[in-house]
Amino acid sequence: MRATKFVKMKPCCRILLPCRNTPFLGVPIPKSSNFASHTNCLFDSHFSAPNDRTSSPRVFVFKTILGQSQKPNSAPNSNWSQSRIFSTTCGCNFSKRAHYLVGSVASNVKSFSTSIETRVNDKNFERIYVQGGLNVKPLVEKIDLDEDAVKKEDDRIEVKDVENDVKNENLKEAESADAAKEESEIEKDAWKLLRDSVVTYCGSPVGTLAANDPNDKQPLNYDQVFIRDFVPSAFAFLLKGEGEIVRNFLLHTLQLQSWEKTVDCYSPGQGLMPASFKVRSVALDDNKFEEVLDPDFGESAIGRVAPVDSGLWWIILLRAYVKLTGDSGLTERGDVQTGIKLIINLCLSDGFDMFPSLLVTDGSCMIDRRMGIHGHPLEIQSLFYSALRCAREMLALDDGSKNLVRAINNRLSALSFHIREYYWVDLKKINEIYRYKTEEYSTEATNKFNIYPEQIPHWLMHWIPEEGGYLIGNLQPAHMDFRFFTLGNLWSIVSSLGTPKQNEAILNLIEAKWDDLIAQMPLKICFPALESEDWRIITGCDPKNTPWSYHNGGSWPTLLWQFTLACMKMGRTDLAKKAIDIAERRLPLDRWPEYYDTRNGKFIGKQARLYQTWSVAGYLTSKLLLENPNMASLLFWEEDYDLLEICVCALSNSSRKKCSRRLAKSQILV
Ligand code: GLC
Repeated sequence: MRATKFVKMKPCCRILLPCRNTPFLGVPIPKSSNFASHTNCLFDSHFSAPNDRTSSPRVFVFKTILGQSQKPNSAPNSNWSQSRIFSTTCGCNFSKRAHYLVGSVASNVKSFSTSIETRVNDKNFERIYVQGGLNVKPLVEKIDLDEDAVKKEDDRIEVKDVENDVKNENLKEAESADAAKEESEIEKDAWKLLRDSVVTYCGSPVGTLAANDPNDKQPLNYDQVFIRDFVPSAFAFLLKGEGEIVRNFLLHTLQLQSWEKTVDCYSPGQGLMPASFKVRSVALDDNKFEEVLDPDFGESAIGRVAPVDSGLWWIILLRAYVKLTGDSGLTERGDVQTGIKLIINLCLSDGFDMFPSLLVTDGSCMIDRRMGIHGHPLEIQSLFYSALRCAREMLALDDGSKNLVRAINNRLSALSFHIREYYWVDLKKINEIYRYKTEEYSTEATNKFNIYPEQIPHWLMHWIPEEGGYLIGNLQPAHMDFRFFTLGNLWSIVSSLGTPKQNEAILNLIEAKWDDLIAQMPLKICFPALESEDWRIITGCDPKNTPWSYHNGGSWPTLLWQFTLACMKMGRTDLAKKAIDIAERRLPLDRWPEYYDTRNGKFIGKQARLYQTWSVAGYLTSKLLLENPNMASLLFWEEDYDLLEICVCALSNSSRKKCSRRLAKSQILV
């Protein structure tokens, strides 16, 4: 199935790459019972077969006739559907042409995606989303990498072409910071490592390898560009005034979003971004090579985990790129607008969920192995919240997007209410839970999720400081996961998912619990570790996730940049500097490990990769953020008062008379 990706196709064809061993020549069996009556599978002779490599599957076009039963707002039918990636002939006679052809390529796979796609009822959005046919404007604009075009594109992001005031300001800041401060030897070495990890595709930089240890004989997928891992690299480049690699990354990964993805005959929802991609070189005839981008949507990943965070990071990075370069033209492009909408629609689609938080499976974010975080993990919620805020900022406001923007606003409001109210714990709240009544059947219940007080873990009773508090890791019916997850808490500060008071309190807690969360290497991914029976049952006896290792309480230097940004936002740069100092003393000597083990982060992780790029980039980004406070301030969000207005204070008739929003507002307004 994956071989189909390497097929070289001629542009402007309506092509569906068949999945050989799936029924109906590649169309997964839909859950809809009347599938057969909807589908005609035709070979379309208009379209050229792929070149004659033996492994190339034949190219077919499927025509789909939708029946009455299809929801008017549901996924588009095949004739309107999505794009494909086209590879580029590179290598010996490197042509520098990248035909990211898009067009209105038919893909019945999408039409019969087994996911339910409830679209925002929005005609114009559908027009962009579903338009098709050979004569319409391509769904995704072509990136023409002809030399002239490359130059034209590059020029847009070159310093000399700065048109935008913001960009000017930022660059001035970057330059004066550069002039004021000589790079240390450690920083110089780190920059060299970061640059050495850059991956090119047809001559252009498109991302960074996850790890770049020349002595690693078994890199698994660490020789790929991970979407989440590239974010700190991208921030480092942007803060240095180098936007090209980020722009290329955003556009290339946007193309991958449209890929036909199949995991055992099942097609995940449209809009999904891959966890990672690899640039592969495929031999052609005549000593030529073809470079292809080969994405992994989870179909190869260990555990087949869904990369839910990828699309959210993509949107967050897009906004950061525009903020720091001033290249707002990028977001105005039709394909970029469509990309944002696809991701947001996937997240906003209706399901059986009762909560505004996003329901995901275990391992769908930075913690990409089973760690008992299925359900509504905080990390995903905070990324979801900031991606919604970014999308709202970047979506072109017109008739075509107004319903989507309305849906975004409603979700933002409901989500922040939910998290602020139900995920928050501090001494007072734990005492409340400790005295909870259970089995309350009514809409008035105080203990809405039926949490049995016995659930409060012993460690927490001793651990929670007088000052400070945090957002718990997960909330489900009758279940609160009280573990402290660092990334979710830090990103809640950065995105203002928490109230200003909560954000302050989280940093107070980190300061109070420094020896547990930072100790000898910043920062612990979560606290505490799962031990004994908990480890056995919850991780499924995962030998990589033994207590205080890897995802199970290991210390991850990459988290330094999110910590620095959160500290800067809250005026606590002292904390960030202290943590950076600690990291700086060990990281270069230890060869930039991926993570550290033990309760206080004393040892290099048992199976940690060395020269892990996001450890390097996390450090560089932290330094650059501190040196460029104005640029840093473009990367976080303040409280949104309009959202506070939209909020209906659901708790107004409960025992806690004021909901956190009103509290937040009154705190800010006094
Ligand atoms: C590990 C991490 C994941 C990261 C990947 C590549 O799987 O858990 O977050 O993206 O390595 O570095």
